Amino acid sequence: MDRLIIDGGVALSGRVLVSGSKNAALPILIATLLTDDPCLVENCPTALRDIRTTARLLESLGKKVDIEGSSVRVLSTGSLKTQAPYDIVKQMRASVLAAGPLLARFGLVRVPIPGGCAIGLRPIDIHLKGFEAMGARRIADQGDIILSAPKLKAAEIRLRFPSVGATENLMMAAAAVPGRTVIRNAAREPEIADLGAFLERLGAKVSGAGTAAVTVEGQPRLRGARHRVMPDRIEAGTYLIAAAAARGKVRVQGARGGDLEAVLAALRRTGAKVRSGRDFIELEMRERPKPVAVSTAPYPGFPTDLQAPWMALMTLSTGFTKVRETVFENRFMHAAELTRMGAQIAVSGAAAVVAGVERLSGAPIMASDLRAGAALIVAALAARGRTVLQRVYHVDRGYEAVERKLAALGARVERAR
Ligand code: UD1
Repeated sequence: MDRLIIDGGVALSGRVLVSGSKNAALPILIATLLTDDPCLVENCPTALRDIRTTARLLESLGKKVDIEGSSVRVLSTGSLKTQAPYDIVKQMRASVLAAGPLLARFGLVRVPIPGGCAIGLRPIDIHLKGFEAMGARRIADQGDIILSAPKLKAAEIRLRFPSVGATENLMMAAAAVPGRTVIRNAAREPEIADLGAFLERLGAKVSGAGTAAVTVEGQPRLRGARHRVMPDRIEAGTYLIAAAAARGKVRVQGARGGDLEAVLAALRRTGAKVRSGRDFIELEMRERPKPVAVSTAPYPGFPTDLQAPWMALMTLSTGFTKVRETVFENRFMHAAELTRMGAQIAVSGAAAVVAGVERLSGAPIMASDLRAGAALIVAALAARGRTVLQRVYHVDRGYEAVERKLAALGARVERAR
């Protein structure tokens, strides 16, 4: 199994090009189920396993998927199936997003209930409640949920929590249902605005995507479309945080500062110089970071997906910091691994207190999940000596060519197979 060997303590410098957003590409690719016409989705991070899994999901449902570079072409081959296979859903929870488009188009869908995962229980009750508000009935059968609605209807839906996945699932369903659906307390993540733009191109009328009230006026028949996926704000944020930890000056090309305001504000408070233009963000850091507490929250708050890298940065700060996780129940698994590198962290419930140390030292460590893996890379880049990171496959779910991109910034990183 792949490992990353990182010789840390080298300041980073240069440019890195951000990939297309994984979390925007997944729902957009799944939204191609809403039409029988061809779709072309550009700027997809096609090297990521989750994008390959999504292609397999679409093929198992009856689409033909051609990947060429970062472009994904989705074609129809005849009729679609309405049952998502368990072996795909268990690999990728986002598969549950196929429920919305299939239910709306065919009045019936069967999806395995995704299990919990390393970072929390992750139920899908908010998605299901929304479908019920649109007139669907559900029954549970052998680990699957069967949703049926001979005719789904437009509805006013209020989410009990602004779930990203539920907002996307309901927007996709609403796009194929004539009438006006309003989703209140919707998630406001930029990836939702990107999905909204794609649904518009398919022919639905969408307003407010990216705000707390999304309105979708669906159409009985949607057409094909071409779309360019937004840049990955989490990947961009990770490279910026890495540069703040390892010091140096980097430019993340293709990133949009407006998607990362909470993170850039926190980075500035650590003492980093941050500058962003229309399609780049630049960071320069020459000193130890000042302590900056963060508490994760739905967008526009500090993203939970950058909490672990942030904690890695704070292990090197000049004081004490509190890091609070409010979105997932169990997202501190990186803390124990960071401790192996010399970090001082005390976790208590949903909060961790980090006492900054002057330096970390390289160690053999292991990624427990995607963002924990990213945090360990941040720490390893800043640490003295050699780190060997195992279970890199977690990192490969969310970061394209991580060792190549870091090497372009001057880091000494190698992948061992
Ligand atoms: C998406 C992102 C993920 C990010 C997360 C929060 C994708 C593919 N993944 O995940 O990277 O960390 O948003 O920004 O876009 N919840 C319920 N019931 C539900 C749905 C969610 O209780 O029906 C809970 C979850 O367990 C979790 C919280 O709500 O604690 C947030 O989940 P949600 O916003 O749905 O995240 P995802 O869409 O799964």
